[in-house]
Amino acid sequence: MKKITIAIDGFSSCGKSTMAKDLAKEIGYIYIDSGAMYRAVTLFCIENSLFTSDGEVNAEELKKRIGEINISFRLNDMTSKPETFLNGVNVESKIRTMDVSSRVSLVAALGFVRKALVKQQQEMGKNKGIVMDGRDIGTVVFPDAELKVFVTASAEIRAKRRYDELIAKGQNVSYDEILKNVEERDKIDQNRKVSPLRKADDAIILDNSNMSVEEQKAWLKNEYQKAAYV
Ligand code: DC
Repeated sequence: MKKITIAIDGFSSCGKSTMAKDLAKEIGYIYIDSGAMYRAVTLFCIENSLFTSDGEVNAEELKKRIGEINISFRLNDMTSKPETFLNGVNVESKIRTMDVSSRVSLVAALGFVRKALVKQQQEMGKNKGIVMDGRDIGTVVFPDAELKVFVTASAEIRAKRRYDELIAKGQNVSYDEILKNVEERDKIDQNRKVSPLRKADDAIILDNSNMSVEEQKAWLKNEYQKAAYV
């Protein structure tokens, strides 16, 4: 069986990470959550006062300091799940807050940020045997990936999933606020000038609105087997 590259793109909160992570673990591939990298850069901006008082990113300053940002992933021994590190500090829970979620699209729309992160992502996948999820993985990062999946589900269902996730983590959030954030991010992600979210021509669509996590997992494993056994 050959080692392949698996690119999973799609809208926010549609369960991409869960299915990508599970598959990678099962087949012994590296898993990279590219969204976590954009979130880590956003956290860097928050912690270094790189957002102006009207909520814009100070792009000029960020551009000067982009070389100071080091993002890595390490497996948590207890949970066997990968966690995101920003300059050596575990920021896994900090990057999942609403504060980061509501600002990340602005940072992800900056061409120089994308260029720097895409370069790191391509480096991580140069030996194949990788599952990466995001928005531009099948179109920009790995245009030659053997398996490309484009995941989608209705905005309401995605907002409910994220709401349940955050409530389970003890965060105090409202469903309406999350739905608004999901819709806003969809709009920005699809309409930004650089690498907008779109399906690669050769990607397979998965609408998981009415699928359980187990069903999605089985679907993806089947697609992987078809792609890797040729
Ligand atoms: O998948 P996520 O919700 O954690 O992603 C966070 C943000 O990062 C999302 O608003 C879109 C952006 N993103 C991107 O532009 N390109 C990627 N490859 C991954 C995420």
